[in-house]
Amino acid sequence: MEIYIRPHADDASKIVADHIEAVIREANGGPVTLGLATGSSPIAAYDELARRHREEGLSFAEVTVFMLDEYVGLSPEHPQSYARFIREHLVEKVDLDPKKVFCPRGDTGDPALEAARYDAAIKDAGGVDLQLLGVGATGHIGFNEPGTSLASRTHLVTLTPKTIADNARFFESKDDVPVHAISQGVGTIREAKKLLLIATGENKAEAIRQTIEGGVSARWTSTALQLHEDATIVVDSAAASKLD
Ligand code: F6R
Repeated sequence: MEIYIRPHADDASKIVADHIEAVIREANGGPVTLGLATGSSPIAAYDELARRHREEGLSFAEVTVFMLDEYVGLSPEHPQSYARFIREHLVEKVDLDPKKVFCPRGDTGDPALEAARYDAAIKDAGGVDLQLLGVGATGHIGFNEPGTSLASRTHLVTLTPKTIADNARFFESKDDVPVHAISQGVGTIREAKKLLLIATGENKAEAIRQTIEGGVSARWTSTALQLHEDATIVVDSAAASKLD
Protein backbone atom coordinates (compact mmCIF):
# COMPACT_ATOMS: atom_id res chain seq x y z
CA MET A 1 0.00 0.00 0.00
CA GLU A 2 1.36 3.39 -0.96
CA ILE A 3 0.45 6.28 1.36
CA TYR A 4 0.72 10.00 0.66
CA ILE A 5 0.22 12.49 3.48
CA ARG A 6 -0.03 16.13 2.46
CA PRO A 7 -0.56 19.21 4.64
CA HIS A 8 -3.62 20.44 2.78
CA ALA A 9 -6.59 18.86 1.03
CA ASP A 10 -5.75 20.69 -2.22
CA ASP A 11 -2.31 19.09 -2.40
CA ALA A 12 -3.89 15.68 -1.76
CA SER A 13 -6.38 16.29 -4.59
CA LYS A 14 -3.55 17.09 -7.01
CA ILE A 15 -1.93 13.74 -6.22
CA VAL A 16 -5.23 12.02 -6.98
CA ALA A 17 -5.45 13.89 -10.29
CA ASP A 18 -1.83 12.88 -11.06
CA HIS A 19 -2.68 9.19 -10.60
CA ILE A 20 -5.78 9.40 -12.79
CA GLU A 21 -3.90 11.36 -15.45
CA ALA A 22 -1.07 8.79 -15.40
CA VAL A 23 -3.48 5.91 -16.10
CA ILE A 24 -5.00 7.81 -19.05
CA ARG A 25 -1.63 8.83 -20.48
CA GLU A 26 -0.15 5.33 -20.05
CA ALA A 27 -3.00 3.96 -22.19
CA ASN A 28 -1.57 6.08 -25.01
CA GLY A 29 -4.92 6.88 -26.62
CA GLY A 30 -6.30 3.40 -25.90
CA PRO A 31 -9.40 2.66 -23.84
CA VAL A 32 -9.38 3.25 -20.08
CA THR A 33 -12.06 2.36 -17.56
CA LEU A 34 -12.28 4.49 -14.44
CA GLY A 35 -14.39 3.73 -11.39
CA LEU A 36 -15.43 7.03 -9.84
CA ALA A 37 -16.76 8.11 -6.47
CA THR A 38 -19.10 10.90 -5.41
CA GLY A 39 -19.28 12.84 -2.16
CA SER A 40 -17.19 15.83 -1.17
CA SER A 41 -13.79 14.08 -1.07
CA PRO A 42 -13.09 13.82 -4.84
CA ILE A 43 -14.57 17.18 -5.93
CA ALA A 44 -11.29 19.12 -5.91
CA ALA A 45 -9.59 16.30 -7.85
CA TYR A 46 -12.36 16.46 -10.49
CA ASP A 47 -11.89 20.24 -10.67
CA GLU A 48 -8.17 19.73 -11.19
CA LEU A 49 -8.77 17.13 -13.93
CA ALA A 50 -11.18 19.54 -15.66
CA ARG A 51 -8.47 22.24 -15.49
CA ARG A 52 -5.90 19.88 -17.00
CA HIS A 53 -8.40 19.07 -19.77
CA ARG A 54 -8.91 22.79 -20.52
CA GLU A 55 -5.35 23.98 -20.13
CA GLU A 56 -3.14 20.95 -20.78
CA GLY A 57 -5.07 18.89 -23.30
CA LEU A 58 -5.80 15.92 -21.04
CA SER A 59 -8.42 13.97 -22.98
CA PHE A 60 -11.11 11.66 -21.62
CA ALA A 61 -12.38 10.71 -25.07
CA GLU A 62 -11.38 7.06 -24.64
CA VAL A 63 -12.49 6.82 -21.01
CA THR A 64 -15.43 4.72 -19.80
CA VAL A 65 -16.73 5.42 -16.31
CA PHE A 66 -18.51 3.17 -13.82
CA MET A 67 -19.80 4.96 -10.75
CA LEU A 68 -19.49 3.30 -7.36
CA ASP A 69 -23.04 3.67 -6.20
CA GLU A 70 -26.43 5.35 -6.45
CA TYR A 71 -29.25 6.10 -4.03
CA VAL A 72 -32.33 3.92 -4.44
CA GLY A 73 -35.39 5.95 -5.36
CA LEU A 74 -33.57 8.80 -7.12
CA SER A 75 -33.78 9.21 -10.89
CA PRO A 76 -30.63 10.27 -12.78
CA GLU A 77 -32.13 13.78 -12.99
CA HIS A 78 -32.61 14.19 -9.24
CA PRO A 79 -30.33 16.98 -7.93
CA GLN A 80 -28.77 14.65 -5.34
CA SER A 81 -28.44 11.60 -7.57
CA TYR A 82 -24.92 10.40 -8.13
CA ALA A 83 -25.58 10.20 -11.88
CA ARG A 84 -26.21 13.94 -11.84
CA PHE A 85 -23.27 14.60 -9.50
CA ILE A 86 -20.76 13.14 -11.91
CA ARG A 87 -22.35 14.90 -14.90
CA GLU A 88 -22.02 18.26 -13.15
CA HIS A 89 -18.63 17.75 -11.54
CA LEU A 90 -16.80 16.06 -14.42
CA VAL A 91 -18.64 14.82 -17.51
CA GLU A 92 -19.86 18.24 -18.65
CA LYS A 93 -16.45 19.81 -18.02
CA VAL A 94 -14.34 17.41 -20.08
CA ASP A 95 -14.64 15.42 -23.32
CA LEU A 96 -16.14 12.32 -21.69
CA ASP A 97 -18.81 10.69 -23.83
CA PRO A 98 -21.96 10.64 -21.64
CA LYS A 99 -22.91 7.33 -23.30
CA LYS A 100 -19.82 5.78 -21.72
CA VAL A 101 -20.67 6.94 -18.19
CA PHE A 102 -22.54 4.28 -16.24
CA CYS A 103 -24.27 4.45 -12.88
CA PRO A 104 -26.67 1.99 -11.23
CA ARG A 105 -30.28 3.07 -11.87
CA GLY A 106 -31.66 4.24 -8.56
CA ASP A 107 -35.18 4.50 -9.92
CA THR A 108 -35.42 0.83 -10.76
CA GLY A 109 -38.34 -1.25 -9.47
CA ASP A 110 -35.98 -4.13 -8.71
CA PRO A 111 -32.74 -2.91 -7.07
CA ALA A 112 -31.34 -6.42 -6.56
CA LEU A 113 -31.72 -7.20 -10.26
CA GLU A 114 -30.24 -3.82 -11.19
CA ALA A 115 -27.27 -4.53 -8.90
CA ALA A 116 -26.61 -7.87 -10.58
CA ARG A 117 -26.96 -6.29 -14.04
CA TYR A 118 -24.51 -3.52 -13.09
CA ASP A 119 -21.95 -5.98 -11.71
CA ALA A 120 -22.14 -7.95 -14.96
CA ALA A 121 -21.80 -4.76 -17.02
CA ILE A 122 -18.51 -3.93 -15.26
CA LYS A 123 -17.20 -7.43 -16.04
CA ASP A 124 -18.42 -7.25 -19.66
CA ALA A 125 -16.54 -3.97 -20.08
CA GLY A 126 -13.33 -5.74 -19.08
CA GLY A 127 -13.20 -4.46 -15.48
CA VAL A 128 -11.98 -1.23 -13.98
CA ASP A 129 -8.42 0.04 -14.48
CA LEU A 130 -8.45 2.53 -11.61
CA GLN A 131 -11.11 2.83 -8.92
CA LEU A 132 -11.26 6.11 -7.03
CA LEU A 133 -12.68 5.84 -3.53
CA GLY A 134 -13.65 8.05 -0.63
CA VAL A 135 -14.19 6.61 2.81
CA GLY A 136 -17.05 7.19 5.22
CA ALA A 137 -16.56 7.84 8.92
CA THR A 138 -17.89 4.30 9.40
CA GLY A 139 -15.07 3.02 7.19
CA HIS A 140 -17.38 2.31 4.27
CA ILE A 141 -16.01 2.21 0.74
CA GLY A 142 -18.80 2.56 -1.77
CA PHE A 143 -21.73 2.19 0.59
CA ASN A 144 -20.39 -1.02 2.09
CA GLU A 145 -21.20 -0.39 5.71
CA PRO A 146 -19.67 -2.27 8.67
CA GLY A 147 -20.42 -5.97 8.49
CA THR A 148 -20.49 -6.19 4.69
CA SER A 149 -18.58 -9.17 3.33
CA LEU A 150 -15.23 -8.27 1.83
CA ALA A 151 -16.22 -10.60 -1.04
CA SER A 152 -19.57 -8.90 -1.71
CA ARG A 153 -20.73 -8.13 -5.24
CA THR A 154 -22.74 -5.06 -6.31
CA HIS A 155 -25.78 -5.14 -4.05
CA LEU A 156 -28.67 -3.37 -2.40
CA VAL A 157 -27.47 -1.78 0.84
CA THR A 158 -29.08 -0.10 3.83
CA LEU A 159 -27.28 3.03 4.98
CA THR A 160 -26.39 3.32 8.65
CA PRO A 161 -27.90 6.17 10.71
CA LYS A 162 -24.37 7.67 10.89
CA THR A 163 -24.02 7.74 7.09
CA ILE A 164 -27.52 9.18 6.70
CA ALA A 165 -26.64 11.91 9.21
CA ASP A 166 -23.31 12.60 7.45
CA ASN A 167 -24.98 12.86 4.03
CA ALA A 168 -27.91 14.97 5.25
CA ARG A 169 -25.80 18.05 4.44
CA PHE A 170 -26.51 17.45 0.74
CA PHE A 171 -30.30 17.25 1.26
CA GLU A 172 -32.91 19.63 2.66
CA SER A 173 -33.34 17.48 5.74
CA LYS A 174 -32.18 14.17 7.18
CA ASP A 175 -35.58 12.67 6.30
CA ASP A 176 -34.92 13.28 2.61
CA VAL A 177 -31.78 11.11 2.57
CA PRO A 178 -32.60 7.77 0.93
CA VAL A 179 -32.20 4.82 3.28
CA HIS A 180 -31.06 2.42 0.56
CA ALA A 181 -28.46 2.48 -2.18
CA ILE A 182 -27.08 0.19 -4.84
CA SER A 183 -23.34 -0.09 -4.29
CA GLN A 184 -20.51 -1.93 -5.92
CA GLY A 185 -19.57 -4.65 -3.44
CA VAL A 186 -16.20 -4.82 -1.74
CA GLY A 187 -15.35 -7.85 -3.89
CA THR A 188 -16.31 -5.89 -7.02
CA ILE A 189 -14.19 -2.93 -5.92
CA ARG A 190 -11.23 -5.19 -5.16
CA GLU A 191 -11.22 -6.45 -8.76
CA ALA A 192 -10.13 -3.05 -10.07
CA LYS A 193 -6.50 -3.11 -11.17
CA LYS A 194 -5.67 -0.06 -9.05
CA LEU A 195 -7.41 1.39 -6.00
CA LEU A 196 -6.95 5.06 -5.09
CA LEU A 197 -8.56 6.38 -1.91
CA ILE A 198 -8.71 10.02 -0.85
CA ALA A 199 -9.71 11.21 2.61
CA THR A 200 -9.45 14.67 4.08
CA GLY A 201 -10.46 16.23 7.36
CA GLU A 202 -10.36 15.17 10.97
CA ASN A 203 -13.67 13.30 10.87
CA LYS A 204 -11.94 10.70 8.66
CA ALA A 205 -8.98 10.22 11.01
CA GLU A 206 -10.30 7.12 12.78
CA ALA A 207 -11.39 5.49 9.52
CA ILE A 208 -7.94 6.16 8.05
CA ARG A 209 -6.24 4.73 11.14
CA GLN A 210 -8.30 1.56 10.79
CA THR A 211 -7.80 1.39 7.01
CA ILE A 212 -4.03 1.52 7.31
CA GLU A 213 -3.22 0.14 10.77
CA GLY A 214 -6.27 -1.94 11.75
CA GLY A 215 -6.68 -5.66 11.16
CA VAL A 216 -8.49 -6.60 7.94
CA SER A 217 -12.12 -6.98 8.88
CA ALA A 218 -15.65 -6.48 7.61
CA ARG A 219 -16.07 -4.11 10.58
CA TRP A 220 -14.14 -1.52 8.53
CA THR A 221 -14.67 -2.44 4.90
CA SER A 222 -11.94 0.01 3.83
CA THR A 223 -9.40 -2.41 5.36
CA ALA A 224 -9.95 -4.44 2.16
CA LEU A 225 -7.39 -2.08 0.59
CA GLN A 226 -4.75 -3.96 2.59
CA LEU A 227 -5.57 -7.06 0.51
CA HIS A 228 -5.01 -5.27 -2.80
CA GLU A 229 -1.66 -5.36 -4.54
CA ASP A 230 -1.93 -1.85 -6.02
CA ALA A 231 -3.68 0.38 -3.50
CA THR A 232 -2.83 4.02 -2.87
CA ILE A 233 -4.17 6.17 -0.04
CA VAL A 234 -3.94 9.95 -0.20
CA VAL A 235 -4.75 11.98 2.91
CA ASP A 236 -4.28 15.43 4.34
CA SER A 237 -2.66 15.96 7.76
CA ALA A 238 -6.02 16.10 9.52
CA ALA A 239 -7.12 12.72 8.19
CA ALA A 240 -3.66 11.33 9.05
CA SER A 241 -3.75 12.70 12.59
CA LYS A 242 -4.46 9.35 14.29
CA LEU A 243 -1.76 7.39 12.46
CA ASP A 244 1.12 6.08 14.60
C1 F6R B 1 -19.34 7.89 -2.77
C2 F6R B 1 -19.21 6.78 -1.83
C3 F6R B 1 -18.91 6.98 -0.39
C4 F6R B 1 -18.16 8.28 -0.07
C5 F6R B 1 -18.00 8.44 1.43
C6 F6R B 1 -17.28 9.70 1.80
O1 F6R B 1 -19.59 7.41 -4.08
O2 F6R B 1 -19.37 5.69 -2.22
O3 F6R B 1 -18.16 5.89 0.06
O4 F6R B 1 -16.91 8.25 -0.71
O5 F6R B 1 -19.26 8.43 2.03
O6 F6R B 1 -18.08 10.79 1.46
P1 F6R B 1 -17.52 12.29 1.52
O7 F6R B 1 -16.46 12.35 0.49
O8 F6R B 1 -18.69 13.15 1.17
O9 F6R B 1 -17.01 12.48 2.89
